[in-house]
Amino acid sequence: MGMLDHWHPMLPAKKLRRKPVGVKLAGVPIALFRTASGKIGALNDICPHRRMKLSQGEVVGEKLMCRYHGWTFGCDGQGESPGTPKLQACASNFEAREANGMIWVKSKESNPKFPEISMPGWFHMCTLEHTIHAPLEVSMDNFCEIEHTPTTHDVFGYELDRMRDVTVRFEQTENTVRVINQGPPKRLGRLLNVLVGIKKGWVFNDDWTTHFSPLYTIYDHWWSDPKDPTKKSKVQWRLFMFYTPVDENLTRVTTWSYAKSFWPLPIHGGIWPFRGVMRKKLDYEMKLDVDIVNNLASHDVNLEGMKLSRFDKALALNRERINKVYRGGTEQAKSSRTELQLAE
Ligand code: FES
Ligand SMILES: [Fe+2]
Repeated sequence: MGMLDHWHPMLPAKKLRRKPVGVKLAGVPIALFRTASGKIGALNDICPHRRMKLSQGEVVGEKLMCRYHGWTFGCDGQGESPGTPKLQACASNFEAREANGMIWVKSKESNPKFPEISMPGWFHMCTLEHTIHAPLEVSMDNFCEIEHTPTTHDVFGYELDRMRDVTVRFEQTENTVRVINQGPPKRLGRLLNVLVGIKKGWVFNDDWTTHFSPLYTIYDHWWSDPKDPTKKSKVQWRLFMFYTPVDENLTRVTTWSYAKSFWPLPIHGGIWPFRGVMRKKLDYEMKLDVDIVNNLASHDVNLEGMKLSRFDKALALNRERINKVYRGGTEQAKSSRTELQLAE
């Protein structure tokens, strides 16, 4: 399996109207279009005639018409030339579907399970997109450790002077990597502690699992009483974060954010009126992550030569699975395979 063989969220569905849109997946340009009947088409964004970008064309009924000489192509890639009707022309096509407010794309050859993004009873706060100028693995590395949270984040994570008390556990299967952290939380201020329902002496928990077809992580964040873990904060979050390789040096992160309030209040436990603020806050925190990764001195995927800490084990575990599932044993996969010694 290669990168194109997994379902990737490519574009917010509301951005695909009557005009086609050009996107890129693993370096491959793709023209997305919505036909008159509402079907989604995804064709290689190069006209087989004389290489015009098909995304520059227009939708005519159930077909996409090339801007240059007016050849038309269906969702299955079959083309017709008005001037040479007997000519067989075919644009390579991809499978596309609309789900969870996004257009998703994968190659025709594979048959992976479609990822499930749903949280019955929880409130969908927002779906956000961010682009990082770094390869897939390096972008993911930031979202798979919490050692950066004291210096990078406002609300999420831990304090630098108490990082030594934060515990980290890893669990792995062939297809998943799970990381569980617990420790004294950030000092948030009285108002936020009251609103979120955090008591003195409680710990911050984050527990996340990364899946590899496609590449995404499900994060759970909450505060709890260390003596009785069933006592939890009144507000909890779940994020579904998808990492899409645009090309070798560009990664798009698509995040679905759900929240649950256990306050006995109307309109989703009283969080509905805060959705705008929470959306802005998450967007802000994500941009801090993006800025960190963009400013790394090197975007080399290889971990060799780094001095890694006890929090960094997921970096290697993720790479093993990405190499297998996404990179299919290519040269780059081999060069980034490495045995690591982690400092305790
Ligand atoms: S280049 Fe597309 S029709 Fe000629
Ligand atoms: Fe972060």
